[in-house]
Parts: sequence; structure tokens; C-alpha cells
Amino acid sequence: MEKFARGREQGRGRGEGDGEREGEEESDLLKGKILANLFYEPSTRTRLSFETAMKRLGGEVLNLYSTETSSVAKGENLADTIRTVSGYCDAIVLRHPREGASRMAASLASVPVINAGDGAGQHPTQTLLDLYTLKKEGLLENLRIALVGDLKYGRTVHSLAYALALYGATLFFVSPEALRMPEEVKMDLRAAGAAGAAEAEAAGAAGAGAEVFETSDLSAVVKEVDVLYVTRIQKERFPDPAEYRKVAGAYRVTRGLLKENEDLVIMHPLPRVDEIDAAVDGTKNARYFKQAFYGVPVRMAVLSTLLGAGGERRREGEEKQGASKNARGNRRNSGVGEEAPRTLRERTADDRE
Ligand code: NCD
Repeated sequence: MEKFARGREQGRGRGEGDGEREGEEESDLLKGKILANLFYEPSTRTRLSFETAMKRLGGEVLNLYSTETSSVAKGENLADTIRTVSGYCDAIVLRHPREGASRMAASLASVPVINAGDGAGQHPTQTLLDLYTLKKEGLLENLRIALVGDLKYGRTVHSLAYALALYGATLFFVSPEALRMPEEVKMDLRAAGAAGAAEAEAAGAAGAGAEVFETSDLSAVVKEVDVLYVTRIQKERFPDPAEYRKVAGAYRVTRGLLKENEDLVIMHPLPRVDEIDAAVDGTKNARYFKQAFYGVPVRMAVLSTLLGAGGERRREGEEKQGASKNARGNRRNSGVGEEAPRTLRERTADDRE
């Protein structure tokens, strides 16, 4: 990944990007390969950074821009679209409002499927770039981090919490009562201490299990943590708009709050609505635009792992063994190669089958 993150010197002003080298490396590793971006929900960073990543690697990109301009508008179901599009490309990036959509797509597609967000479920490649950001900041070991905002519907925080458990992080879940982290995720995190040792080892991570604290009070945790990972309240996922109005604007990170802990690092998967004041953008604490930039080198790493020479040989081997249908949760769904451990939730779901 590091090799994709070097390149042009980026001289920005204060705060983010200050003195940072930003990646514009190019390669023809994926020349002749085609990536299909299928987005059934809005996206700026994920779709564009996948497109940039693929193009920087010499590959090409097909885009299903919006459902209005495709046969989805004629009533085509996801299964038929996936079967069709798999014949046109070498890998699919899928964002869909339904939880489990990528898993289902992966079981039907003849090419790898990368989950770019499945409803309120997971967003694994966002987690990779979040981890990369933390690693670049030297914060991944012994991390104390608050996940703030919509922990119920926010898919980025679900994936991130699972991943951070592999690093033995201390997690503070800060949300309104109605938007608490799902019980299922918390159960998995508690179990991680006992059951996750092998996964942590497979990921090369320091320790298994997370210590978890829950609160609604942001000011109470500000001095306790190294990082605030702030999220948007996911308006579009509320069945009742009145319920959204009750929690909208619940948290706001301001320069005043930063006075409580001057070294606090502020991350956000973006887009933000009003949960981080624009005055924070120019401070040394803000990392969210740098974090968004890391989407390019991280997704270059994902695509080259999946579609580069090594990935292709792995897939051929798998197909020869007739194992491709059973490789779910690893190569096909996570997009991080067959060495990737399944998330705890995936493991639990598979174990039930
Ligand atoms: C997030 C998403 O789509 O889940 N955005 C992203 O991919 N960076 C966060 C959000 O929409 O709030």
C-alpha cells in the first residue's frame, strides 16, 4: 500500500495535508482489466476513488451511474443485473441499500464482488482506509477511540469496530440512546476477546478483543481518547422522519471542544452534514480530507491484490479445486484477498448455516 501512497509533494496550508506527500503513482498492472462500479445509492468518495485507483493501475471502469438510466428503472432485479454485468468486467464494486446485497451478489457473480456499502451493514474498504489513516498517524497500537454519531445505521462504524477489535483498541461508543451500536455487533466484540485471537494473528494485529464503553455524552469522552471518529446521522435510513428530527444535530465538534484535548485527532468518513464545524477544518486536529485521499492508494492495493497477477493465479487455483462458490466472505466479498479474515459477523452468520 505504501508504494501507492508516494508521489507528488502536496503543499497545502495549515492543518490537513501539511507537508504530506500525496500519491499519484501510475502503473499498468491492471492494463486490459475492467472494473464495474454499480452504485444503487449516492456516493462521491467511494465511487470516484475506486475509479481513480483502477485508472492509476492502467485499468478501465464501467459505471452504472444511477438507477434511472439503467434497466433497474425497468424493474430488473439485482440478481439479473449482477449475472449480466459479471460478463462485462473483471470485478464489481457494489453499493446497495439492502444489507447482505454484496454477499448475495458474490454468490451469483462469476467475478469478485467488492462490498462498497450494503445498507446499514458493512463498508469494509472504508475500514481499510480508516486503518491506514490511523497507521500513518502511528495510532493503531493501544488506540483509544470514540465512534460518535449514528452507530445504529452507520455501516462504516460497524466495519471499523470489528477491525479495531483485532488491534485490542479501547472503544467509546457515543450516540443518542436511539442510535446505539447494534446488540449483535457488541456481542461479537465481547466474544472477540476469546474467539478472535486467531483472526488477530491472521491479520498481523497485536491483540484480540476490544474494551467497550457506551455513553451519550460526547464531552465526557473527549479527554479520554486519542481519536474522535465522527459520523453523520443517516437520515435516509430512518423509517420515520419524525424520529430523525429528534436526533438530528445531536453532536457538533467545534474548536471549543478541541480546547479540552489539543492532541485529539478528528476523523470522519464523510460526507458531513453539520456534525463538524467548518472552523475545525484548518486545525492540526482535522484528518478527514487526508483520510478521504487515502481511499485511492488503499483501493489501488485492494484492486491489485484482487486482479493483479497473484490474485489471478489464486483465483484459477480456487476454480480448479471447485472452491470458488465457497470462497464467500474472503476474496469475493471483502475485496482484500483470500488471506483476509472474515469479520466476526460473517463468521457467525456462516456458522449458523
Ligand atoms: C459513508 C457511507 O456511504 O457509508 N460514506 C463513505 O463511503 N465515505 C458514510 C455516510 O454516508 O455517512
